[in-house]
Amino acid sequence: MNSIVIETERLFLREWLKEDFHHFKPIATNPQVMKYIGTGEIWSDERIERFIDNNIDLYKKYGFCLWALIHKQTQNLIGFCGLSPLSQSEIEIGWWLTPEHWGNGLATEAALAVMLFGFERLNLPKIVSIAQPPNQRSIRVMEKLGMHFEKMSTDRRGIEVVYYAKDKLGIEPVV
Ligand SMILES: CC(C)(COP(=O)(O)OP(=O)(O)OC[C@H]1O[C@@H](n2cnc3c(N)ncnc32)[C@H](O)[C@@H]1OP(=O)(O)O)[C@@H](O)C(=O)NCCC(=O)NCCS
Repeated sequence: MNSIVIETERLFLREWLKEDFHHFKPIATNPQVMKYIGTGEIWSDERIERFIDNNIDLYKKYGFCLWALIHKQTQNLIGFCGLSPLSQSEIEIGWWLTPEHWGNGLATEAALAVMLFGFERLNLPKIVSIAQPPNQRSIRVMEKLGMHFEKMSTDRRGIEVVYYAKDKLGIEPVV
């Protein structure tokens, strides 16, 4: 398989391929997935292509991105998890999963491995995460990673978000 970057018990996190478009489209056009992403609109084909291209470039440039999430058992692309710049000085951890796989701990499993990668391999001092307040599943993942609530904030569109963070020191996953 193309460039696996991280492996966990049930998942591979790998670089994106342009062909992933066809497998990612059903996820990025699923209203359940998109409910708390930006304004909740599903993504156009052009937006999906841009997302994949951006992550291919991000990984080449910085050695991290929101990696494609591959379910080992089926080899299917089931979402993404990884790191992306939130601002010039902040790196955000993020995750989307196809709903048929929600509730099995997969986002937490992927995100724990991504956090370790960020702290140990990239030597990041801090990792942050944001979510719209009603997105309780995502906020629960942040809590299970041992992240702490820092403040209410707004995203780049001005939408209200909770802002969680974890420092490299004291990395103790709470699962
Ligand atoms: C957020 C998301 C990735 C979580 O994936 P997941 O694989 O279901 O996550 P996990 O199973 O690792 O953990 C989910 C936790 O939320 C809990 N949960 C589920 N529904 C919940 C609810 N309505 N309120 C509070 N917690 C809830 C689960 O019980 C679990 O916690 P637990 O292990 O303590 O029981 C998934 O819901 C998703 O892809 N959502 C759409 C995209 C998205 O919003 N991404 C985040 C943007 S900030």
